[in-house]
Amino acid sequence: MVGLKVTFSVIKADVGSLAGHHKVIPEQLEVARESLEAAKKGGTLLDFHVTSAGDDIELIMTHTKGPDNPEIHDLAWQTFRAVTDKVSKPLRLYGAGQDLLSDAFSGNLRGMGPGYAEGEFDERKSEPVIVLMADKTEPGAWNWPVYKIFADPMSSPGLVIDSSMRKGFIFRIMDMMEDKFVDLKTPEESYDVLALIGTTGRYAIQSVWRRSDMTLAAVSSTSRLSFMAGRYVGKDDPCLWIRAQAGYPAMGEILDPFAFPHLVAGWTRGSHIGPLMPVSLKDNQCTRFDGPPRVLALGFQVTDGRLIGPADLFDDVAFDGARAEANRVADYMRRHGPFMPHRLGPEEMEYTQLNEVLKSLATRMRPAAEMLVVPS
Ligand code: F6R
Ligand code: MG
Ligand code: MG
Repeated sequence: MVGLKVTFSVIKADVGSLAGHHKVIPEQLEVARESLEAAKKGGTLLDFHVTSAGDDIELIMTHTKGPDNPEIHDLAWQTFRAVTDKVSKPLRLYGAGQDLLSDAFSGNLRGMGPGYAEGEFDERKSEPVIVLMADKTEPGAWNWPVYKIFADPMSSPGLVIDSSMRKGFIFRIMDMMEDKFVDLKTPEESYDVLALIGTTGRYAIQSVWRRSDMTLAAVSSTSRLSFMAGRYVGKDDPCLWIRAQAGYPAMGEILDPFAFPHLVAGWTRGSHIGPLMPVSLKDNQCTRFDGPPRVLALGFQVTDGRLIGPADLFDDVAFDGARAEANRVADYMRRHGPFMPHRLGPEEMEYTQLNEVLKSLATRMRPAAEMLVVPS
């Protein structure tokens, strides 16, 4: 039905994987599908698609209950629990249940471990939506491509020649450390947008709104597990969805920025900078040095809330150049070993064991004035 108010929810979690932090197995996806199928039959969901990005299970769901809905969050939580209890734990998969941070779930996923990108829109007469899912990186990884898509006319010609896009967009930017957000307008505040989102470890674009009619254009997951857990539990491999075409960015304008494998934080131990490689479902798992970080793009039509598709959008020779470049950049970055800027700075290593090492050396630190003493 044209005009149907649809809530689009992508909820993801790493609840265990095969051969290290590598890959979800079919049995896990099967349990997740059974759980969502029952919810669809019971009327909770309009439709769903279950997939994975490396070691993360991704639940792509449509419904009419609005974002942050306890029933939907509970469904996702119970689904991840079922996968953990029925498959990850019995098979002793690696990191079984790792993103389920608490046993006391109270109806909202905020601060509980799983990441989510949720929003509501009135279904257009044709509603293409692109879902992007990344592994071995963090929410700030979307900042560069989302800016290109919605604010850079050198990248998206629609900003110049499509009357709905010409009025610009509102960027809702989350400060993930302070748990605050600010709404900034492009094009006139684009330098302010860049001043924030260039700090990818702290600021992430939570959503983008089209100014011509204040409708939602994109939503991303902005949780940071490491801030929530107080100890290092991995980066929060993020997800993002974007409405495409007819006054929103064209499908190709959404994909084109990913032809540049820009550098992101993550990779092994969530502690390194590496290129974000666009991959198809076939190459959707991290290997070399637990990476390089990867991004997958699935395209859907939302029709009466049903998910038609998906199309595996990076399954195209047009992205071979980006993959080759990402491999070259991976070689170059790896040659730095444990040196910055390949390894992240100490502030980003807060929850790793680097700080323990620094603490253990602190007592052996001596004043520079004693430098003439012969080492003993
Ligand atoms: C990165 C990630 C992996 C692990 C690494 C060590 O987000 O999940 O790179 O950090 O494989 O994992 P553990 O400490 O579990 O052996
Ligand atoms: Mg993992
Ligand atoms: Mg992951």
